[in-house]
Amino acid sequence: AERRHDRKEDHVRLATMQWEPAQGDGPAARGNEFDDLDFVHHAMDAVALEPVDPATRMFNRDAAWPFYINGMTGGTAHTGRINQQLAIAARETGLAMGCGSVSIALDDPDAAPGFRIIRRENPDGLVMANIGVGRSADDARRAVDLLGADALQVHINAVQETVMPEGSPRFGDWLSGIEAIVAASPVPVLVKEVGFGLSPRTLHRLADVGVRFADVSGRGGTDFLRIENDRRPGGDYGYLTGFGQSAPACLLDAASLDADSRPTLFASGGVRNPLDVLKALALGAEAVGVAGAFLSTVVEVGAEGLIELIGSWQRHTRELMALLGAPDLEGLRGTDLLIRGRLGEYARLRGIDAGAYARRRES
Ligand code: FNR
Repeated sequence: AERRHDRKEDHVRLATMQWEPAQGDGPAARGNEFDDLDFVHHAMDAVALEPVDPATRMFNRDAAWPFYINGMTGGTAHTGRINQQLAIAARETGLAMGCGSVSIALDDPDAAPGFRIIRRENPDGLVMANIGVGRSADDARRAVDLLGADALQVHINAVQETVMPEGSPRFGDWLSGIEAIVAASPVPVLVKEVGFGLSPRTLHRLADVGVRFADVSGRGGTDFLRIENDRRPGGDYGYLTGFGQSAPACLLDAASLDADSRPTLFASGGVRNPLDVLKALALGAEAVGVAGAFLSTVVEVGAEGLIELIGSWQRHTRELMALLGAPDLEGLRGTDLLIRGRLGEYARLRGIDAGAYARRRES
């Protein structure tokens, strides 16, 4: 249990370090594949700000905002306080939120308060529980109960398990495990990666066992390969850096599946600002998850600081939609997008018609 507590603290500390502005090779400074996307500016297309509505649907419920606080932490005194501050910020700004894996609290009741605090602070908001693939259907139910959750995130993390010092990759029975969790869960299940992306093949396999919501969570933001490698004495997996697909690449790829044979898509991984949110929405995401960018703020300046940051993201989201001539999310999906650089190469290699995205408004 001691080691598990250390792991939770390590994750928060190492992730926060990655997001420091001064971290030259971190997601804030280094750039990622969202930078390979540009909206074509049409100078006469802007619409009035007043009627712009960024609302979306999450788990067949109305959600006022198209971005949310993604699953991160909980289980120790310190990470419980982080959850408390995240929950206050979610309540004050009307965002949905997730939490870190609840497994620690299923095995050790002393870890439960750091999750329960979320519902205590935010009784009416949309809250997601979280559990790792491989846990039983009964554990999934208990995780939902513990939080009074509205939905359940199930994370799949093969890359992380491979590099994690205490990793125990038992990959074989994952799909049947997910099928059992979906069948048993009293609330909608969202399957997510933790920063390496979900391919169309994976999305299709998930849909086959009944998964109706998936967050592609791609690379380019919080780097769990690096976090786990940094936790290894003499970490020697550094060469794997860059493994996996970015969120924009996953969204482009997923468009090849018809809507009936894939889950509804959420996107996360490397979302740094409101423009990244809009790019993910323009590529078809129904909602956009933000982890590292919000964690570093809450750790540094607490709930008040995060409320301010989210408020500015909310203002900017509406302003940029007006600028782009998109009164709603459907409008964003009709914007013209240039796909450049490494993302453009990905599109070409995967047989995706990048040119069609550059001329959506004309057609
Ligand atoms: C995470 N993430 C995560 N995901 C999950 O499903 N269960 C978990 O327990 C955790 N734990 C966790 C801890 C910390 C400190 C961070 C920063 C993140 C992954 C997270 O939800 C997201 O998929 C990735 O971080 C990529 O998004 P960002 O950080 O680039 O916005």
